[in-house]
Amino acid sequence: MRAMEITLNSPLDMHLHLRDGDMLKLTAPLSADFAGAVIMPNLVPPVTTPEMMQGYAERIEAALDGAAFTPYMTLFFTALGEKELLAARETPGFFGFKLYPAGITTNSEGGVSDMAQADTTLHLMEELGIPLLVHGESHGFVMDREQEFLAVYRHLATRYPKLKLSMEHITTAAALKLLDEFPNICATVTLQHLIITLDDVAGGALRPHLFCKPIAKRPEDRDALLQAALSGHPRLFFGSDSAPHPRCRKEACGCAAGVFTGPVALPKLAEIFATHGALENLQAFVSDNACKWYGLAPVQKQITLRNTPMSVPAAYRSYGQEVVPMYAGESIGWSVVR
Ligand code: DOR
Ligand code: ZN
Repeated sequence: MRAMEITLNSPLDMHLHLRDGDMLKLTAPLSADFAGAVIMPNLVPPVTTPEMMQGYAERIEAALDGAAFTPYMTLFFTALGEKELLAARETPGFFGFKLYPAGITTNSEGGVSDMAQADTTLHLMEELGIPLLVHGESHGFVMDREQEFLAVYRHLATRYPKLKLSMEHITTAAALKLLDEFPNICATVTLQHLIITLDDVAGGALRPHLFCKPIAKRPEDRDALLQAALSGHPRLFFGSDSAPHPRCRKEACGCAAGVFTGPVALPKLAEIFATHGALENLQAFVSDNACKWYGLAPVQKQITLRNTPMSVPAAYRSYGQEVVPMYAGESIGWSVVR
């Protein structure tokens, strides 16, 4: 096989769960090939104040043990006034707000139950240039939740035309269409939603480590997402949504939602883009598009990937934690050159 290589400049993960405590110590170094990531705030309790956010950012930095990696911090969206929004914006490391419909996923009980209650805050965020990242699912039938939520995205994009609005972890061809309809919306897409469909999760034996929210959808959705990513769509960014849960919470009755992809994301993306002859668009997908949209200037970091295989461990274990990654015990065609 012909040797192939790509060097990425400052790759970014625009949607990442690192958790806290011992789990954070395990997971943070496993995402440290990225130059930075947008860090999700759904801890227990959620990260709702600048003080909590700063404390969390410090714990992330400690867990990274000197790695050049910028945590772009988010606050869990609650209805706030101008003074509080200004305080958030002035806090070092602050990136934006993550809005969860109440109860829609892990630790989101304190989310928004009525969008009208968010109106004043959203108008202010628009004026202040503060991005809004949204977990876009309704409480309907699980396969239709994203589709049903598109009406809310339409409403937000129309009512707050200058708001920097991101549809997080999109899983449908319909969401991509919305991206083309509204130039003021961007979106992230995960690794797993470029690869799997519901069949991979539940079509044969149940695969708990591929179970996440939003649930993987139909082949035509997966194919449309993959084509958009491969083409370097300027408003589609890589966001892994790597969401580690202890093995005992995944291999359980009442399996927690989340796919742990942090350690395999860059090699697998390189493999996918190479397989489809689209390696030249990987830089845009994992960094440049998001940098342009948000005006980011991440730390300079070059990561070289090569088509020599990576053996993915059956599990990552440290600090008393055990987490199973996507492709556990398997081999990926590409790896990071150390
Ligand atoms: O699968 C998911 N896991 N989806 C989410 O929205 C949250 C995440 C988590 O925090 O575990
Ligand atoms: Zn997430």
